[in-house]
Amino acid sequence: MAAPATSGVPAAHHLTRVPGLLYGGDYNPEQWPEEVWAEDVVLMRQAGVNLVTVGVFAWGRIQPGPERWEFDWLDRLLELLHGHGVAVDLATATASPPAWLVRAHPEVLPVTADGVRLEFGSRQHYCPSSPVYRAAAVRLARALAQRYAGHPALALWHVHNEYGDHVTECFCAESAADFRRWLARRYGSVERLNQAWGTAAWSQQYGELAEVEPPRRAPGPVNPTQQLDWRRFCSDALLACHRAERAVLTELSPGVPVTTNFMSMSKPLDYWRWAEEEDLVSDDAYPDPADPQTQVRAALNYDLMRSLKGGAPWLLLEQAPSAVSWRAVNLPKTPAQRRLWALQAVARGSDGVLSFQWRASRAGTEKFHSAMLPHRGTDSRGWRETVRFGAELARLGSVAGGRSRAETAIVLDWESWWALELDEHPSARMRWSTLLLPWYTALHRRAVAVDFVRPGTELGGYRAVLAPNLYLLRPETAQWLSEFTAQGGQLMCGPFSGVVDGHDQVHPGGAPGPLRELLGVVVDECWPLADGATVPVELRDGDGTLAATLWSEWLECEAAVPVARYAEGPLAGRPAVTRHANAWYLGCHLGADTGAVLDLLLAAAGVAPVLTVPEEVEATVRTAPDGRDHLFLLNHGHRAAQVALPDHWRGARDLLTGTAQADRLTLGPLDAAVLLHPRTAT
Ligand code: GLA
Repeated sequence: MAAPATSGVPAAHHLTRVPGLLYGGDYNPEQWPEEVWAEDVVLMRQAGVNLVTVGVFAWGRIQPGPERWEFDWLDRLLELLHGHGVAVDLATATASPPAWLVRAHPEVLPVTADGVRLEFGSRQHYCPSSPVYRAAAVRLARALAQRYAGHPALALWHVHNEYGDHVTECFCAESAADFRRWLARRYGSVERLNQAWGTAAWSQQYGELAEVEPPRRAPGPVNPTQQLDWRRFCSDALLACHRAERAVLTELSPGVPVTTNFMSMSKPLDYWRWAEEEDLVSDDAYPDPADPQTQVRAALNYDLMRSLKGGAPWLLLEQAPSAVSWRAVNLPKTPAQRRLWALQAVARGSDGVLSFQWRASRAGTEKFHSAMLPHRGTDSRGWRETVRFGAELARLGSVAGGRSRAETAIVLDWESWWALELDEHPSARMRWSTLLLPWYTALHRRAVAVDFVRPGTELGGYRAVLAPNLYLLRPETAQWLSEFTAQGGQLMCGPFSGVVDGHDQVHPGGAPGPLRELLGVVVDECWPLADGATVPVELRDGDGTLAATLWSEWLECEAAVPVARYAEGPLAGRPAVTRHANAWYLGCHLGADTGAVLDLLLAAAGVAPVLTVPEEVEATVRTAPDGRDHLFLLNHGHRAAQVALPDHWRGARDLLTGTAQADRLTLGPLDAAVLLHPRTAT
């Protein structure tokens, strides 16, 4: 609800204490002579930059030899930045071990599943389980924290960089030993491991834990539970590296927030567990201008980032001002896309917009990656856009710290994702992102606000919970969902759910396992569809025909009633979508037609959109800590769109243009508005 007007002066960012929204980027001054730094800081000021990430790949520059430390340059740099009012997100620089360390200890280099040791010469070349690497990384983090803990420029610690980028796993002997220790903690005995892994199949029994190895390249598919445990272990091994660095930082500089940059919704790391270790969730997001659905995927990632810490503001720590350099074909962003997509992150909870990188590199792999300050320098369109956007962002300072409210939640469980995509399933097409995207797209089109939750999250504020897939499902997760429905919430589960337990073993009686009673259905047999095949599905009461692709199931209704049936094919007449009280089940993949079934659920749940808007307009509300509501309207369409404002938004001022809105607002193609609630406008 809107609160009385306040001064309008943006509050300091709740963690970094930098006023307003954060603006800046990765700054790699080690690539430039110091004369350039002097120009950089002046230009940063001109662009409204208030935070830069420093030192991400500077290990070799800071510690050029085992006992050589060079901090003078960093001292000068931090002073210079501070003197120009630019705060620092200081990296621990541990993502790229220097050559001297690698040559002295070649065992720090990671090994692939095929047994190939990866060479020095790129980045992220380390084995997460290597005690040598871990000790060296912690030593570096300690040295940085000892020196800069009290530095006035220090606003945020940036641990490592993109854990799980390039190297998500290492198969060396050290990792194998670490894996065995992890397994010993998990299972306690080889008998329990044999049981959990189902090693009676294919004669895979182990006589002792010492015989177990990582799932290296083998003649055929490797034991699925071994692979699942390996994924759990790899996420944990990287997390152990992170924890070790974090511990040093919090010990030496208590009160300075710590983050590590996530890579949007990516598979290798269970970000729920990681987020527990972050003071601030930060994300690197690179929407692809070549993808017509890119804004939907981006919204999804941003909603996830906001959800990882229960709705707390997060930070877009990297995005590209224009093109990236790592796709096969790197399309630039148009000026309008650059602005709109950056605002989209703020609309969905980011307290700022930072880019990779500040100044375009002249050398190295990323020299063709766009930057806030392009190769052309200040006499360039890109630079003018950097300055213009900085000024726009400064107008939105009042939204800093703002939160959003959603009545719908999507369940995301990394373990289930990992297990879903293991080998020899009924269909290899059942990928988590393929299954999730149509559900999310339907909500996005309808401007329905949505959070992500993990099994066990308190669901009190939600009316609808969606589980597009829960292939791996523990009994306690079924219990959690059942309590939600018992309290009146509407639940919809997608196909191939409730199939296996935490050891990837099929639930007795088959799917949906522990959900059987709640959903009132049982799956007789999975009936995946051939590539390209579609099967018509008819909604009850002649409400229309939908198309199933990828997947169907021979479903038997027990307590449930069919909501839709297959109209053709071997399952003709059988239930495709069912409902049992307020628990709905989709036994098929409805792709682009998912929304038709979601509409039934949303209506039953009484979920309302943020605002009634044209399909291509994205609408979100962020409520600032002082209660002021901000309505973001983003037109992703290539035509102008009209938005009718409800009574309580009439007269609201658009913070981007400064103009007050009447009852109707016209957004140009790829244009945006950020309305401050009229009763709170200052
Ligand atoms: C990642 C990395 C950066 C940079 C960018 C380029 O996000 O963290 O160091 O390589 O990609 O897009």
